[in-house]
Amino acid sequence: MKISKVVVIGSGTMGSGIAAQVANAGLQVHLLDLTKEIATKACERIKKSRPPLLMEDNNLNHIIPGSIEEDMETLKDADWVVEAVVERIDIKKTLYLQIDALRKPGALVSSNTSSIPLKVLTEDMSKEMKEVFCITHFFNPVRYMRLLELVIGPQNDKDKINHLVTFGDKTLGKTVVVCNDSPGFLGNRVGVYAMQVAMTEAFNLGLSIEEADAVFGRPLGIPKTGIFGLYDLIGIDLMADVLKSFIKELPSSDPFHEVGKELPIINQLIANGYTGRKGKGGFFKMNKLSGKKVLESLNYKNNTYHESKKVSLGLPEVMDVVNVIERKDVYGQYAWTIMKKTILYASSLVPSVTENFNDIDDAMKCGFNWSKGPFEILNEIGIVNFVSRLNQDDKIPFFIKQLVGKQNTLFKIDDKELKYFHPQHFYISMQRADGIISLSDIKKSSKPIYSNSSASIWEIAGKSKSICVEFHTKANALDGMTNDCLKKAYDLCNDRYDGIVIANDAMQFSAGVNLNYFYDRAVNKEFKDIDIFLNNFQQSLYQLQHAKFPVVSCPSGLAIGGGYEVISQTSFIAAHSNSVLGLVESLVGLIPAGGGCKEMLRRWSNHSDIKTDPKLLSLKVFNLIGYATTADSPIKAKDQQFLSEQDIMVMSKDRLIEEADNIIFSKKENYESLENASFILPGPSVMSEMCDILNELKDKNIIGEHGIEVGKKLGYMLSGGDTNPSLKLTEQNLYDLEREIFIDLIMQKPTQERIRHTLDTGKPLFN
Ligand code: NAI
Repeated sequence: MKISKVVVIGSGTMGSGIAAQVANAGLQVHLLDLTKEIATKACERIKKSRPPLLMEDNNLNHIIPGSIEEDMETLKDADWVVEAVVERIDIKKTLYLQIDALRKPGALVSSNTSSIPLKVLTEDMSKEMKEVFCITHFFNPVRYMRLLELVIGPQNDKDKINHLVTFGDKTLGKTVVVCNDSPGFLGNRVGVYAMQVAMTEAFNLGLSIEEADAVFGRPLGIPKTGIFGLYDLIGIDLMADVLKSFIKELPSSDPFHEVGKELPIINQLIANGYTGRKGKGGFFKMNKLSGKKVLESLNYKNNTYHESKKVSLGLPEVMDVVNVIERKDVYGQYAWTIMKKTILYASSLVPSVTENFNDIDDAMKCGFNWSKGPFEILNEIGIVNFVSRLNQDDKIPFFIKQLVGKQNTLFKIDDKELKYFHPQHFYISMQRADGIISLSDIKKSSKPIYSNSSASIWEIAGKSKSICVEFHTKANALDGMTNDCLKKAYDLCNDRYDGIVIANDAMQFSAGVNLNYFYDRAVNKEFKDIDIFLNNFQQSLYQLQHAKFPVVSCPSGLAIGGGYEVISQTSFIAAHSNSVLGLVESLVGLIPAGGGCKEMLRRWSNHSDIKTDPKLLSLKVFNLIGYATTADSPIKAKDQQFLSEQDIMVMSKDRLIEEADNIIFSKKENYESLENASFILPGPSVMSEMCDILNELKDKNIIGEHGIEVGKKLGYMLSGGDTNPSLKLTEQNLYDLEREIFIDLIMQKPTQERIRHTLDTGKPLFN
């Protein structure tokens, strides 16, 4: 069975998100609501959404708005009908009767409900419809959240439902977790519990909301919104409804009741309209003081707002749960209590809610963006250590009791195969959907063949014999160590392997070179060191680009600045559908100097728009880099030449390494390394046109005095310096020019100020 036509009923937040993702997959989708006007408005919202729900604007043409009054006939040839109307049983059930009367035999039907049990939804359904009906629980925003929980029951025809599992994975790019019919399924059951523990413990310990968010954030492998920021993001009123539903559904013995109670502070915020970011603000709010926007945070002890300050608690910048929970202060206590309770709660759900604990890990990683799931964290803490730290009154779930004393481990390697502890079957093989090569599994079952503090190299067992370079710094910022690792991978591959994959599991592939490094060297006037660093960076990327074996990079999330320079100098790019690519150095008053300028000139020189005109070439790339252009999908990245024709887009992040391995496998036999490029550039003759552009921008207040200076240097770079069109420049010539101009700019005070400002605030400085 092939799913090629989809009908989504309900065009609100979720229905429009699902329709957009189906359209992104290139399929036609009918989006129906009470009236066509409502569905049409939803299409307009999709078009304007930020971050965009569509991977390219034209995908909107795949979405056909309609009404349930007039367009239910479209159901007749639909392969999958998904209901995403308001959370009301009566409305949903009435719709199911209509759907059953119209759907073609065998067509799959699902609901996006977040709280109504499958058994309630299906109680009045025909036997035939029950076989093909399940819950497909997407997360908001649908394009960006990876988790799709598929809730099934004994009445389902498993073969038919499996089509939906494969469709969700391969076509929609989701990590599909098949769940039993129980309240909150897996993601929300554990995720909301963890959130409630984080909130109530912060109150119990008297932590300020900044302190709580600093701990329940990156140091624990949790997104930096923390707990209070996340409450504001989701909506404080929506969270209150979610809690009510859990309290109603879960038996009174469930530990959720201890942390899910109504809190006076929450009621008060909602009553006063402080429902979070969509309202007047919540735990955080924006205020305008003498014309300047100021972020304020709530002091919940006296109900006042004050300017929100970054707190420095001496916590690690990257995930390090084991050390944070060891701290002897209140922050260590806070971290330990959250982790302890979440792990105990998650363990209490095995096997009654799920037999496979790693499904809970996947749900937390893909539905709540945790870097590691609670069981992976337990594994790091160590079972014996974890149990020894518990108090007498902590109730140890049977699952943990089963583990203690036996093997004391959740994972084990048997004959090179990764196995996990199963409450009924002892240790069983880790099964991933057909073809998936999981870096997180590789990391559990082997040791890196090389590792330093910033990056590691892993052997991957795919069709080819390849290695994977993984960055693991904060935001995967690049430094001398990531560079050493790339060089090491080149040396290793030259001797022994078919190719190199550059990939990682983090939210961001790489946000660029570590700006702290540049800033510190610059203020200490260690410009020679910067030059050496850049030269090393360029040379290692040059080596990879011209290697005699294929190198495939797999961006997902941000691959910008130096991150883009890495991927742009690999032989192939397998880009996740949500990756953001581009060169943004001009925002901090610099130019790309790891081959980014050279690479964009190489890429555009073959483009039909350029017609081998050196001036057009320089101007095109000048605009692209000067505006710090980024592309927020691989499709847009192809238009900007950030990706080439041969590069591919991969819908599922889980399948990036598999695709990279396929590329290496198919290319390794007759692989021809990339030839050296040569460049014909206009030289100073194009500078006056570039200056006109800069002056116009200055007049419009888009750039300032220093912006002009940076723009001129960028122009000098992209026109080839003092060259002229009768000369051919080499790649090395352009690398040299990049470094020379970069150093020239970073010596300047205003550039140093811009870097400092970006490091402090995360935002660019206008000057
Ligand atoms: P919403 O309120 O944004 O949209 C609901 C839509 O249903 C509205 O456009 C409304 O006009 C339409 N509708 C109402 N009655 C209808 C009918 N008889 N026929 C056709 N359309 C009808 O709701 P949202 O947030 O999109 O939620 C939809 C479903 O997804 C709910 O079951 C909710 O529990 C679930 N869900 C919501 C999540 C979220 O973050 N908002 C996350 C996961 C699931």
